[in-house]
Amino acid sequence: MSQDSAQSGSETGSTAAALPEDLAKRLARARHWVVMTGSGVSAESGVPTFRDAQTGLWEQYDPLQLATPEAFARDPQLVWDWYRWRRELIARAQPNAAHRALAELAGLKPDLTLITQNVDGLHQRAGSPEVIEFHGNIHRNKCFECEHLVAESRGSTRRPPACLRCGGLLRPDVVWFGEPISSAALGASYRAVASCEVFLSVGTSALVHPAASLAQAALDRQALLVEVNPNTTPLSPLADYALEGSAELWLPTIASCMKQALS
Ligand code: OAD
Repeated sequence: MSQDSAQSGSETGSTAAALPEDLAKRLARARHWVVMTGSGVSAESGVPTFRDAQTGLWEQYDPLQLATPEAFARDPQLVWDWYRWRRELIARAQPNAAHRALAELAGLKPDLTLITQNVDGLHQRAGSPEVIEFHGNIHRNKCFECEHLVAESRGSTRRPPACLRCGGLLRPDVVWFGEPISSAALGASYRAVASCEVFLSVGTSALVHPAASLAQAALDRQALLVEVNPNTTPLSPLADYALEGSAELWLPTIASCMKQALS
C-alpha cells in the first residue's frame, strides 16, 4: 500500500488545499464511504479536544481521569460539574465548515456512513442525516445504577439529579474509559466497515479503542484509507493519503471536489 501526504494551504503558503488528483478520482468512484470523526472536528467550534490542555477552571484536571466510572463513584459532583461546563460550551458552539461539508457529502454520497466519537451533537445540527454516536451523547443522562435513560431537556442542574426509577444518581450518557461501547453502535459500525471502499478518519488521535480498530478493519478489507489531521497519529503511516491540516480546510475541499466530479 502506498502512502501519500498532502499539505494544507496554510503550511504551503497558498490559500487553499488541493486534493491530489488521483485521490479525487478514487473518492468519486467509490460508492460506500465510512467517515470516522473525533474531537478535532469540533475544535474550531470551540469545543476543546480531549488531549488538549483544559482551560480556566479545569486546567488542573486531566480529562482522562474525569471520564471514568471510578471518578464518578469517588466524586460525582466533580465529574458532574465538569460535564456541566462541557454542556455549556457545547450549547454555545456552532457547527463549523467541516460539520457542514460532511452533511453535504451525505447528500452527494447516499451510502456514506458517518460514525463519530464526539458526544456534542454538532454533526446532527449541521444536517447530517444519520450519525452513529460511538461514545454516546452529552445531551442525555442515564442512571449510574439502573441505566435508565433521561433526555437532558432543560440544561444541567447544579447537582447530579436522582433517577426517578431507582433513586441512583444520573450521569451523562457518554461512554467513559473502561466502559463498553453500545452493541448497537458497535454492530452498525462494523457492518458499515465490512462493505466500505473508503475509510476517512478525521480529527482523531486514533489512540482510543475500539474506535481506532475500525480503521484497521477497513485496512484489512483493503479500503482506501484517508486521514485528515494537522498532526501525525499512529494511523498516519498506514494511510493511503495523510492530508495534513485541519478538518475545516480539507472537508470543504473534498466536498467541493465531489460536487464537481459528480455533477
Ligand atoms: P483526541 O483529543 O485524542 O485527539 C484530537 C485529535 O484531533 C488530535 O489528533 C489532533 O491532532 C486533532 N485535531 C486538532 N485540531 C484539529 C482540527 N482543527 N482538525 C482536524 N483535526 C484536529 O480526541 P479523539 O481522538 O476524538 O472518548 O479522542 C477519542 C476519544 O478519547 C474521545 O471520544 C473520548 C476521549 O477520551 C471517551 O470519552 C470515551
